[in-house]
Formats: sequence, C-alpha cells, structure tokens
Amino acid sequence: MRPKNPCEIMYGLLKGKKGIIFGAVDERSLAWHIALACAEEGASFVLTNTEAACKIGNITQLANEKGWVVLPCDATNVSEINNLYLRAMEILGGTIDFVLHSVAQSVNLRRHREYENLSYEYFLKTIDISALSLHKILQTALKLDALSEGASVVTLSYIASERFVEGYGDMGDAKAMLESIVRQMGAIYGRVKKVRINAISQSFVHTSASAQWDKGGQFKKYTDALSPLGNASVDDCANLCIALFSDLMKGVTMQTIYNDGGLKNSLLTQNLMELLIDIV
Ligand SMILES: NC(=O)c1ccc[n+]([C@@H]2O[C@H](COP(=O)([O-])OP(=O)(O)OC[C@H]3O[C@@H](n4cnc5c(N)ncnc54)[C@H](O)[C@@H]3O)[C@@H](O)[C@H]2O)c1
Repeated sequence: MRPKNPCEIMYGLLKGKKGIIFGAVDERSLAWHIALACAEEGASFVLTNTEAACKIGNITQLANEKGWVVLPCDATNVSEINNLYLRAMEILGGTIDFVLHSVAQSVNLRRHREYENLSYEYFLKTIDISALSLHKILQTALKLDALSEGASVVTLSYIASERFVEGYGDMGDAKAMLESIVRQMGAIYGRVKKVRINAISQSFVHTSASAQWDKGGQFKKYTDALSPLGNASVDDCANLCIALFSDLMKGVTMQTIYNDGGLKNSLLTQNLMELLIDIV
C-alpha cells in the first residue's frame, strides 16, 4: 500500500503538473491506481479511453465521484488524439507535463487464437492498439507542440517483449515494438524538448483483462515465487510512475525499467523450489 498522511498529499511530487492518463477502464486497471497516486501527489489530469470502454467499464462513474474529467479517444485514431490534446490543454490550462500510455488489446488472445494460428487482420490490430498507439500519441503531440519542456511519458510493458511466455501470443510482439518506439521517440524528444520517454516492465497483476488469462491464479503464484521480492504490486507500479513523472528522474529516458521484484534476472529461487515440491 502507498503510505498515507493525514492530508492525503504524500510528497507533492507532481504539484502543478498537468497530465493525460490513457487506459483506465475500471478500478482494477493499472491506470486507475496510477491516477489515484497522481492525484495524491498533487497533479491535475484528464482520463481517456475509447468511447466503448467508457460505456462498458465503470470509469465514467468512478471519475465523476472524484470530479475528474473523462475524454473519449481511440488511441489508434490520430484525429481523435489531436482533439484530445486540444481539449486537455484547454481544460488543464496549458501544455502537458506527463502522459501515461496504459493501452493494450489482442483480439487474437480474446478469441483464443494460438500464436501459430494468428489472424493477421487481428495481429495488425494488436500492433496498432498496443504499440503504434504510443507512436501516434507522441507524433501528434510533437506536431501540436503539446508537451512541456522536460515532460515525462510512461508506457507499460511486459517481460514477454524479450522472453517467451506461454499464452501471451502476439502481445509479445507488440510489447517488443512498444519498447523500440520508446527508444526511438525518446532520442528525438530528448534533443527537442528534453522530454523523457520510458517503459515500465511490470510484474503480472490481476486486472479485468489479465485475470481471465490466469483463471486459477497459478501463473501469478509462479511469478511471485520466482521473483526474489515477490510480484511488484499495482501500488509499486504507481509509485515508480510517480517517480518517473516527477522532476526526480530528469536524467532517465529511453529505458525499459523492470518493476518485477527481480524476475527478469531470476531462474530459480528457494520459494519456487518449495512451490514445485508442493506440486510434485
Ligand atoms: N496486468 C498485468 O499483469 C500487466 C503486466 C505488465 C504490463 N501490463 C500492461 O499494462 C497496461 C494496462 O493493462 P491492465 O492490466 O491495466 O488492463 P486494462 O484492461 O485495465 O487496460 C488496458 C486498457 O487499454 C484500453 N484500450 C484498448 N484499446 C484501446 C484503444 N484503441 N484506445 C484507447 N484505449 C484502448 C482498454 O479500454 C483498457 O482500458 C497494458 O499495456 C498491459 O499490457 C499489464
């Protein structure tokens, strides 16, 4: 849990900063937890998601309770992204200091299409939604000059970008491309306006989408046992995001940062051995 103080503002790390948060659909979304932390740290922001997600999820109701604005936008549609920036800058009163890209979807996975039997139409959609959308968000912002000097952009990735994870399918390819866009755009934005662009490679956590994929919870148990610190929680993810959005990490860009309890560098742990002994 994030520590609390009586006035709810923790350190004021984002005081006066203005942001756009993509990808909260309900209270389980990583983006929702990050939004709560941004508010606690003194930021003002707008939330955004597709029109369909705003209707299907309860994000509009949740945001209303907090007095936050939700602006519908399909992150694959450049003209909608353009309008989103213009509206957000009008509502927030200036250019944008931070952007969270927490957007992903694979129709192949939804329809249980194995990697060796992909629909290529769906595959292109996966890449468009889960990777290219970051490029579109950054390219549009550059044309509008919508990001402030020294702004910070964070996207959420997963270890399947570089290692095989059974069942993750074409999302692994999308995450690899996503991390590449972080490096390429990070270099360009760095020299233009000292904007930082980073990816957080997050531990597996149960959200509406991911829990369906790990129905029995075995995968979460396995990664927890394999990670020396255990799975990094949604609050750990929110805290890292706050640090990256803040002025504390002005020298960090073009990185994939592993918020994974050590999983990336771990092959066998005592906890995993004990788990395996229980199973065998
Ligand atoms: N849950 C995990 O274990 C985990 C681990 C590592 C990384 N991630 C990544 O974190 C991010 C958020 O995932 P989550 O687990 O919070 O699930 P989530 O389903 O709550 O978030 C995904 C969001 O993407 C949105 N989205 C889909 N298509 C869109 C489009 N065209 N335009 C705009 N938004 C669109 C969805 O509406 C949803 O809000 C994803 O990139 C996911 O891959 C999740």
